[in-house]
Amino acid sequence: MNPKIVARQIEPDERIAGSVESSASDRSKSAAGDAGAGMDLSTVGTPYVDKPKFTLRNVDVFYGDKQAIRDVSLDVGERQVTAFIGPSGCGKSTFLRCLNRMNDSIPAARISGQLMLDGQDIYDPKRDVVELRARVGMVFQKPNPFPKSIYDNVAYGPRIHGLANRKAELDEIVEKSLRQAGLWNEVKDRLDATGTGLSGGQQQRLCIARAIAVSPEVVLMDEPCSALDPIATARIEELISELSGTYTIVIVTHSMQQAARVSHRTAYFHLGHLVEIGETDGVFTSPKHELTESYITGRFG
Ligand SMILES: Nc1ncnc2c1ncn2[C@@H]1O[C@H](COP(=O)(O)OP(=O)(O)OP(=O)(O)O)[C@@H](O)[C@H]1O
Ligand SMILES: [Mg+2]
Repeated sequence: MNPKIVARQIEPDERIAGSVESSASDRSKSAAGDAGAGMDLSTVGTPYVDKPKFTLRNVDVFYGDKQAIRDVSLDVGERQVTAFIGPSGCGKSTFLRCLNRMNDSIPAARISGQLMLDGQDIYDPKRDVVELRARVGMVFQKPNPFPKSIYDNVAYGPRIHGLANRKAELDEIVEKSLRQAGLWNEVKDRLDATGTGLSGGQQQRLCIARAIAVSPEVVLMDEPCSALDPIATARIEELISELSGTYTIVIVTHSMQQAARVSHRTAYFHLGHLVEIGETDGVFTSPKHELTESYITGRFG
């Protein structure tokens, strides 16, 4: 990938100045400041794909009275890496958390619209949320290993989901997950050592091993490299590329280079709107929306 970022002038007739949909409080909380005020923020690009893992339609998210996500519709392609980018406060984490119902634990959060995983309603009241989160795992910004041994961190999920009947089976899952996460060689001789004693980059790979140990179909990652140095970041990016053949991955990132390197498709959010989405190369080399162009060329954000 690695597309060269080319600035392109948006022709005036490509955008229609529309009504202002964002509130003053939205703007004050956004690192983009007033950017986008008075513009048409409806989605441009290609929101839908042939083989969707998630089909998400007309999604709104409110925290109390405040709307954080505004009528967002898109597909997340199966076994693809989709990157969510956009200025701080634009709703990336909020939208990501909708995909495995992590917002359920925020009492003020209210979600409407249609959110489907493999054609089935994620928010069906009959849905087992524990099972959903085993299928749709999550890796957070700050590595958060349990205060347990390396082995027990990875074995935790398989144990609670009853994925192994014998110790040997569990050993096999732990080794396979640590190998997939690129950590096995560094920890195989100290599986009993505590997970929190590893370096930051190793802890993040341990959290990825823990997430994939239950054989999820999807891994959501919210800025997984923001606390890591360039070497650990490169290792995680390599890992994302390796995993993308097996898993559907959605990654939130503030690094344009990272989005360009690891993702197949990129979605640009602004003030709670999905402003642009498409193949990553296209979004970075010839953005269709003026705001996307401003953001990826570093004019704000
Ligand atoms: N738990 C919460 N309660 C109330 N408001 C929230 C909560 N979480 C997020 N918000 C608000 O929702 C909006 C979107 O926040 P969100 O964290 O999704 O943005 P983001 O794009 O992930 O930002 P960042 O890049 O800084 O992580 C912001 O205005 C934020 O203040
Ligand atoms: Mg966030």
